[in-house]
Amino acid sequence: MDVLNCIKTRRSIRKYLDKPVPWDDVVTIVEAGKEAPTAGNLQNFKFIICVDAGKRQSLARASLDQTWMQDAPVHIVICSIPEKASMFYGIRGERLYSIQNCAAAAENMLLVAHSLGLGGCWVGAFEEELVRDICGIDVNGRPQIILTIGYPDETPPRPAKFKLVDVTFLEKWWGRVKDTGFTMAKPSVGNARRLNATKEFLGNMANNIKKHAEKIPDMVKKSEKKEE
Ligand SMILES: Cc1cc2nc3c(=O)[nH]c(=O)nc-3n(C[C@H](O)[C@H](O)[C@H](O)COP(=O)(O)O)c2cc1C
Repeated sequence: MDVLNCIKTRRSIRKYLDKPVPWDDVVTIVEAGKEAPTAGNLQNFKFIICVDAGKRQSLARASLDQTWMQDAPVHIVICSIPEKASMFYGIRGERLYSIQNCAAAAENMLLVAHSLGLGGCWVGAFEEELVRDICGIDVNGRPQIILTIGYPDETPPRPAKFKLVDVTFLEKWWGRVKDTGFTMAKPSVGNARRLNATKEFLGNMANNIKKHAEKIPDMVKKSEKKEE
């Protein structure tokens, strides 16, 4: 699966088959998380893999009773180590980069899970202190995201997403190109469409010429007869 196709077809999965995830795949998924870009390459995150059924049930409860979570055979609790980032980047490191680093890791993991035929969901709604207790996270760590992973038992439709042109500016905030019919359509897509239209037009024209050309000998014969 190419990367863009993987990104476009990934969906949040909230229904899972009762089928274990091969450990190799779990390792591949966390490996993808570890490779994410991080501010200053700090890699100030830790991934807690939870497969124990009781623990997954507790995590679901701690996540505002999102009971569907417990059916996912694997939970990955992504934690930041904010102090490590604050040592280098101050408050921006602590409050922003720590979260961004975990978010980048989370998306990597979801995409790789999807590419392996697995499904996942990003869970952000949970009570931090409860998750801290369940996983024994000390004062150095901060749970940021829980990922649920498993084999999908649903094929959710693509949710409504904005058009590219609605979320993209040029050069400045609300920068739009006016009066040029600017769209975010890819030139290659437009060119392919125009090329196909031209091919069709020329094909029709060739058929018409052929049809008329076939009539020419008869027409010549008729006019020769008239002349006689
Ligand atoms: C920061 C964040 C928090 C989220 N928290 C939850 C959550 O607590 N529960 C849940 O079911 N989905 C959660 N989601 C998943 C979104 O609902 C989902 O990504 C969105 O509806 C778009 O659907 P898609 O992932 O299929 O494109 C969260 C996603 C993000 C990025």
